[in-house]
Amino acid sequence: MEKLIYEGKAKQMWSTDDPEVLRVVYMDQATALNGKKKDQIRGKGEVNNEISSLIFEYLTAKGLKTHFIKKLSATEELVKKVEIVPLEMVTRNVSAGHFASRFGIEEGRKFTSPVEETYYKSDELDDPFINESQSLALKLVTKDELDVMWKLSRQVNQLLTALFKKMGLALIDFKLEFGRLADGQIVLADEFSPDNCRLWDLKTKAHMDKDVYRRDLGELTPVYEEVLRRLKEALKEEA
Ligand code: TMP
Repeated sequence: MEKLIYEGKAKQMWSTDDPEVLRVVYMDQATALNGKKKDQIRGKGEVNNEISSLIFEYLTAKGLKTHFIKKLSATEELVKKVEIVPLEMVTRNVSAGHFASRFGIEEGRKFTSPVEETYYKSDELDDPFINESQSLALKLVTKDELDVMWKLSRQVNQLLTALFKKMGLALIDFKLEFGRLADGQIVLADEFSPDNCRLWDLKTKAHMDKDVYRRDLGELTPVYEEVLRRLKEALKEEA
């Protein structure tokens, strides 16, 4: 029988008949401020599942190793079971969000080269910033694994910056998570959707990501649906 293995803020993970495969269910839930702001948002699970599936398929086609197997239904996908590395790997191309507030600068400053940050995944500790030597001291990850994770993050940044540009969007920043397969291989895990990146419209500078929810800028689902519509068009052109 299928068992609920894990329930996060926006997704559930269920076991399947195959011990190496999990079923992910995307929920209609949005959270911000580490869960302090929480709402049901109709249609969000479906649109995030579709965006993330298309992006993982795209990255897989470009040769990146990921946990993704296939989209199963409107709100479900199948993924390889991994042991999640408890680090959030953030890449920033342009100042925004916590980078801007932490260092007291305006949003929108383009960096000469991307800023890379890691956060320790811990709800009790509010996901604190963590540097490389701290991650190694806590044995969260090995140096070789970190190198692979940053290499994959840089490839994702290159590929998706170009793809989003075709969609009239700037990839401002994003957060990735990685996992270990049974044989120890590091693969890209979790999701890639407007929940875990910032996308600004190149013409209007409008926020096309979860900042719409975080900052109460309007309805979230229509914005994500517009991202999905542009993504499908860009992928059609690529094919
Ligand atoms: P930040 O500016 O709030 O640190 O966020 C940087 C990027 O990382 C942004 O695209 C949102 C994403 N992110 C998550 O996906 N989950 C998180 O818990 C945090 C803090 C950021």
